[in-house]
Amino acid sequence: MRQETIALHYGYTPDESAPTTAVPIYQSAAYEFESAEHAAALFNLEVEGFRYSRISNPTNEVLERRVAAMEGGLQALSVSSGQAAMHYAMLNVTAPGTNIVSVPQLYGTTYTLFAHLLPKMGVTVRFAANDSPKEIAALIDDDTRAVYCESVGNPAGNVCDVEALASVAHARDVPLIVDNTVPTPILLRPIEFGADVVVHSLTKFMGGHGTTMGGIIIDSGKFPWARHAARFPMFTEPDPSYHDLVYTEHFGDAAYIGRCRSVYQRTLGSVLAPLNAFLLLQGIESVALRMERHVENARRVAEFLREDARVEWLNYAGFPESPYFPLTQKYLGGRACSIMTFGIRGGLAAGTRFYNALALIKRVVNLGDSKSLACHPASTTHRQMTPDEQAKAGVTPEMIRVSIGIEHIDDILEDLDQALGAAVPERVTAHPGMTARGRSVGARVSTP
Ligand SMILES: Cc1ncc(COP(=O)(O)O)c(C=O)c1O
Repeated sequence: MRQETIALHYGYTPDESAPTTAVPIYQSAAYEFESAEHAAALFNLEVEGFRYSRISNPTNEVLERRVAAMEGGLQALSVSSGQAAMHYAMLNVTAPGTNIVSVPQLYGTTYTLFAHLLPKMGVTVRFAANDSPKEIAALIDDDTRAVYCESVGNPAGNVCDVEALASVAHARDVPLIVDNTVPTPILLRPIEFGADVVVHSLTKFMGGHGTTMGGIIIDSGKFPWARHAARFPMFTEPDPSYHDLVYTEHFGDAAYIGRCRSVYQRTLGSVLAPLNAFLLLQGIESVALRMERHVENARRVAEFLREDARVEWLNYAGFPESPYFPLTQKYLGGRACSIMTFGIRGGLAAGTRFYNALALIKRVVNLGDSKSLACHPASTTHRQMTPDEQAKAGVTPEMIRVSIGIEHIDDILEDLDQALGAAVPERVTAHPGMTARGRSVGARVSTP
């Protein structure tokens, strides 16, 4: 099946007694055992089946199969939010005394997890100076347990060289873990370029309607945990917390997700509600269509902002001026994502006037809704960072981030135009240093 078809059909076999076209919501905490022996076999992982919805649930399982297929992965584990997915994905490969090497352009709360919470558990996160594979390679040592990046950074909009990052990680026997929230598997499938684990906030474009929190971890099934047993003994040695199970022996290629579910989902319990799995499945049915419109509307918005003298700078990876343009061609097929950032002439004060004047575009911190959204990262999503940390993450004080929705493009452009009018009252007709193609487009793209 192709992506569009997978998104509608994959992973659901209707029950013969009630062959529903929609995936049913299995709103049940527990599942009846046939016998004491059956219960014991389920708990021993000797037979497949459901026992308790903290571990697995039939509605969630359809979502897991579907998203795993869309990403080209082997198996997936759904969780209650994107943050829960990041947290589990890291816990599953680390132990006190180990480290993770990460690009600096991260979503703010992932940064907080890495910079403040994981260190409290004895795991250090080494932030590279930028997203170049060379910088990342220099930080990997014998204690490294993963390389981490956002395929397209939020809000920096940097497009990571996933293939090169996978290759520097694999050269040191370390997996590459990629947050693929912003492009979705419709625009980019990191596993095809060597990523070992993919994580998502399904709250964004995948769900697509701003109604439902959710996250997912997808295992490519390709990382050779057993071959690198000295680094990853948690997969190859008997686990006393699960009656001495050896994950690579029991789950084979699916050891990563098997352990994540058996250890972290079972004991920490960031479970996705089956109703939410259903709502996310509804959203995913149309994700391919929506992404097309998101991409096209974003391109039109970027062209509008590039030409408008009231806009001081624009960061959009779909223009040749952007240093990320070649990577946009390679990884996204030229389809730059629909989040972009810009600064308005007059700095923070003008940006604030612009933000307050928006009428159609909603002032929220979310992204990936069908509706157009705007946010001021420095005072919201990235507020907990110091100015220096913000700069490394690609956030500047005046920066506005928009997530362009699927409304009629003229309505979006009219709202931007009137809000720019409120921000920069005198009609700006020229701008020093302006070229025919616009001003400093792409100037802020190359975040440190
Ligand atoms: C790139 C990225 N990853 C992860 C998350 C966290 O996801 P959630 O809000 O579902 O916990 C977000 C949220 O904005 C995000 O933008």
